[in-house]
Amino acid sequence: MGEVAIELREVRKSFDEVVAVQRFDVGIRKGEFFSLLGPSGCGKTTTLRLIAGLEEPSEGQILLEGREVSRVPAFKRNVHTVFQDYALFPHMDVRRNVWFPLKMRGVGLAEAGERIARVLRLVNMEGFERRLPQQLSGGQRQRIALARSLVDSPAALLLDEPLGALDFKLRVAMQKVLKDIQRGVGITFIYVTHDQTEALTMSDRIAVMKGGQVHQIGTPDEIYNTPATAFVASFIGDMNFLRGRLSAASGGSGTVELEGQSIACRRCPPGLAAGEEVLIGLRTERVQLNPLRSTEALLPAVVKRIVYRGTDYEATCSCGAQEIRAVVSSVSWDPGVREGSAVRIGFGSGDVSLYARSEESQIIQYSSVAV
Ligand SMILES: Nc1ncnc2c1ncn2[C@@H]1O[C@H](COP(=O)(O)OP(=O)(O)OP(=O)(O)O)[C@@H](O)[C@H]1O
Ligand SMILES: [Mg+2]
Repeated sequence: MGEVAIELREVRKSFDEVVAVQRFDVGIRKGEFFSLLGPSGCGKTTTLRLIAGLEEPSEGQILLEGREVSRVPAFKRNVHTVFQDYALFPHMDVRRNVWFPLKMRGVGLAEAGERIARVLRLVNMEGFERRLPQQLSGGQRQRIALARSLVDSPAALLLDEPLGALDFKLRVAMQKVLKDIQRGVGITFIYVTHDQTEALTMSDRIAVMKGGQVHQIGTPDEIYNTPATAFVASFIGDMNFLRGRLSAASGGSGTVELEGQSIACRRCPPGLAAGEEVLIGLRTERVQLNPLRSTEALLPAVVKRIVYRGTDYEATCSCGAQEIRAVVSSVSWDPGVREGSAVRIGFGSGDVSLYARSEESQIIQYSSVAV
């Protein structure tokens, strides 16, 4: 646990009757890549604006490097914000754009020369000093915006969907550039995105939000493999949600009844009691069709639909009254499995996560049926 750079203590923000952020409590470490992830309107930008000093919290405190800044204005905080639209000055060339934050502190252009050169090297934009923003591509403009934010060595950089305007390939390339730069400079990044892949691949830790509420804060591995709520489980990755009943629960593990079979679960949240109706989360890529080795759970099912997706196949199977989707990589797909085939569905006791049935309404489904 390194030094804490940014701390939110029970921060709450409401705009009249709208609660944009409720009880955000976190310590973000120096040099950490911390992401805020969640659907539109969940409070990501508001959280960033609170840290930047562009909004005041309704309750709670914000500390930057140990100092209470809740009432300190934005320009007195040692943090910079990079927005989606870059906001470069159109009439200034690259060099003057990058110089701007130093100019505001009274540093002359000649004096700033070495620092400007260094950050342009860092973002791989040497030789572009005399270009105007309109003479640059989207990715290049984004890199200049980044150089400008880094030139006066802020304690933290706040990025609000900085790659949102870029096309997919450029976006993936810029993710790598950004991550490399962050590693290189060791500055704390707080990164807002609604793209789960971006958050998982770039972050040290992620806060997953919905409706102003923080559902989970954890490493990408924790968020993906042990989602704290049904919402997190549904928002990240591809999840089956099945209905079952908890027949036994003790010491953090349990047994569920699913379509007439008893299935052991390695993790059972303490709030669930034996006898309760539960939701069973099972990642589609964990589901095996006709497993060669024995698995802890084995359910008979019939394949209803097979969709070829290039790198994998998605097989939708009916198992009693419920549907279970399996995503199987193309290399290990058994061509003998057809629509109508009887199969056995296998998975392990560590592959399932359990939630209260009352969380069902929080599930976000992006199924092909809905589209
Ligand atoms: N100035 C404001 N006045 C009133 N309501 C606001 C204001 N700013 C934000 N909100 C509301 O607060 C909630 C959170 O907004 P916020 O902009 O933080 O969401 P977001 O997670 O950044 O969403 P998006 O992904 O669409 O950018 C929304 O319901 C929004 O309508
Ligand atoms: Mg936003």
